[in-house]
Amino acid sequence: MRLGERVREIERDERLDPPASVLQRLADTVPEGRLRDLLHGVPLGHPLHPLSVQLPLGAWFSAALLDVLPGDHRRSAHALVNLGLLFALPSSVSGIVDLADQQERQKRVGVAHAAANGLGSLLFGASSAARAAGRHGWGRALTLAGLGAVAVGGSLGGHLAYYRAAGANSADYLIDLLPRDWKDVGALDGFPDGEPGRADLDGVEVVVVRSGTTVRAALGTCTHAGAPLAEGTVADGCLRCPWHGSEFSVEDGSVVRGPATAGLERLETSVADGRVLVRLPAART
Ligand code: FES
Repeated sequence: MRLGERVREIERDERLDPPASVLQRLADTVPEGRLRDLLHGVPLGHPLHPLSVQLPLGAWFSAALLDVLPGDHRRSAHALVNLGLLFALPSSVSGIVDLADQQERQKRVGVAHAAANGLGSLLFGASSAARAAGRHGWGRALTLAGLGAVAVGGSLGGHLAYYRAAGANSADYLIDLLPRDWKDVGALDGFPDGEPGRADLDGVEVVVVRSGTTVRAALGTCTHAGAPLAEGTVADGCLRCPWHGSEFSVEDGSVVRGPATAGLERLETSVADGRVLVRLPAART
C-alpha cells in the first residue's frame, strides 16, 4: 500500500476524534485577537507553523551532525538539543491553533502529526537528560530516535499541507479562471446595500459589497478553507467569513482577522448605466 493511502486510513480513523477534541479545547484557550492571529501567521501573510518548525528541526539536525563529526562537540550538541526543545514549544502551539479550524479528516491526521512530534520532543528531552548526566552514548542514540519520530511527524504535516491543502490559499487557482475583460455581473440595485452579494463571473463566484453607489468586488471564495463569502456578513468595513470568522478588508481584501493568512483577490469594479462591471485588475493580467 502506498504511503498516501496509509495516511488516508488515518483520516478515516474515528478513534482519533477524542484526542482531536482535546487539542481543540487547548486551542480554544487562546482567545481571538492579536496573539491568536500571530500564531496563525496573519502579520506575516503566511502560515507561521511551517516556518517555525524549521527552528527546532534545524537545531536537532545540527546536534546530530555534531555528534558524528570528529572532535569534541558534546557541549555544543547538548546546547542545540536544548535550543530545539525551547523552539518546539511555540511551534507546537501555532500548529495546534491552526488545527482547530480544520476539517475532521485533517484534524485526525493532525493528531497523528502532533503525537509523532510530541514523541520526538520527549526523546530529545531524554537525550538532553542523558547528556547532562554524562551518558553521551545514550544522548546521541536518543537524538537519532527523536529525529526518526519528527521525520514521521513531518511527513504527516506534509500530507496535511500538500494533499489536504491545510494552510494553502484555497482560492488561488480561481484567479486563472477569471476573464481578463470587463463583465456585466448585474444591476446595481440588485445587490443588497451593506451586505455581501453573490455574482457569477464566467463560472467563478464573486462577492460584491455595495455601499450606496460604491461597489467593491473580490473572489467569493475564502482563502482559508474555501467558504462562500457571499454567505458571510459585513461590519466595520470588513467582510466576515461564515465558517471560521476570518475578516477581510472590504477596501483592499487584506486579512484583518485570521485564521486566513492570504488576502482576498480584489477585482476592479465600475458602474455604468446602473449596471455593475467587474474585471481582474490590469496588473494581474
Ligand atoms: S473558510 Fe475558514 S475562515 Fe473562511
